[in-house]
Amino acid sequence: MSDNSRSGAKGPMAVELEEGRKYAFCTCGASRSQPFCDGSHQGTSMSPHRFTAEKSGTANLCVCKKTGKMPYCDGSHGKPER
Ligand code: FES
Repeated sequence: MSDNSRSGAKGPMAVELEEGRKYAFCTCGASRSQPFCDGSHQGTSMSPHRFTAEKSGTANLCVCKKTGKMPYCDGSHGKPER
């Protein structure tokens, strides 16, 4: 996945998710409400990744936007660029 992060954040962001609730995960990196979409992608070809939480609790969501397991962090932020 390409580096879409504009936030400068390197690691994941821990957020509380609610089972069955729908979320819009920011894929463009421009949202000021990371890791969620705030509509800042308007006018680009990007769109949020919509997902439904499978369980309630804390989840580590990707902020660097390099994860291969969107929206969850897979440790890609610590790997060298390819
Ligand atoms: S603000 Fe980034 S995908 Fe919507």
